[in-house]
Amino acid sequence: MSKTYINTNDQFHFSFSTKAEKTIENILSKYPPQRKISAVMPLLDLAQREAGGWLPISALEAVADKVGLAYMRVLEIASFYTMYNLSPVGKWHLQICGTTPCWLKGSDDILNAIFDTLQIKPNETSKTGDFTLTPVECLGACVNAPILQVNDDFYEDLDYESTKKLLESLLKNKPLKFGSSIGRKSEPETGTTVLLKVKGKKNAG
Ligand code: FES
Repeated sequence: MSKTYINTNDQFHFSFSTKAEKTIENILSKYPPQRKISAVMPLLDLAQREAGGWLPISALEAVADKVGLAYMRVLEIASFYTMYNLSPVGKWHLQICGTTPCWLKGSDDILNAIFDTLQIKPNETSKTGDFTLTPVECLGACVNAPILQVNDDFYEDLDYESTKKLLESLLKNKPLKFGSSIGRKSEPETGTTVLLKVKGKKNAG
């Protein structure tokens, strides 16, 4: 999934808050000093949260300074991953997965519900500025496809009606509980994630 737009009209001055500076110290302490560039991704995430959900140029520069990378290298990373936003997004950032399992299970119905409720299509922000819709590739939750990510939360097993209900709850600033809209449980009863069960052996998870 390529991202092709960058907000170059950057009038937003960004600097990390005092609280974030402490978090940065903690993040950097996890890496050897000569490897601090490895902290670039958590620092981009932190900057994005502090900047209100996106990364203005000044935030990319602040991250570049912290890890000792050229600004262009940081931009290369931020422009590669869809988790980083290079233009402002609405208070509710909707990320719709359209990869094969979600598409086969009805991601088009989610798109229709979003358009009917908010009048936005992929890569658009609502007139109120509250909602941005971004198409993404597999979110790693295919077992409960189709998936709509809202900010940090996954809403699963959605259809047209349940998506409308979800959007209406967001319009009222009272988001529904995230997870499966049909109450499906995808994790083992132990509550741990187990990828491989070995016959005759206890799971280590
Ligand atoms: S295909 Fe949508 S979460 Fe994997």
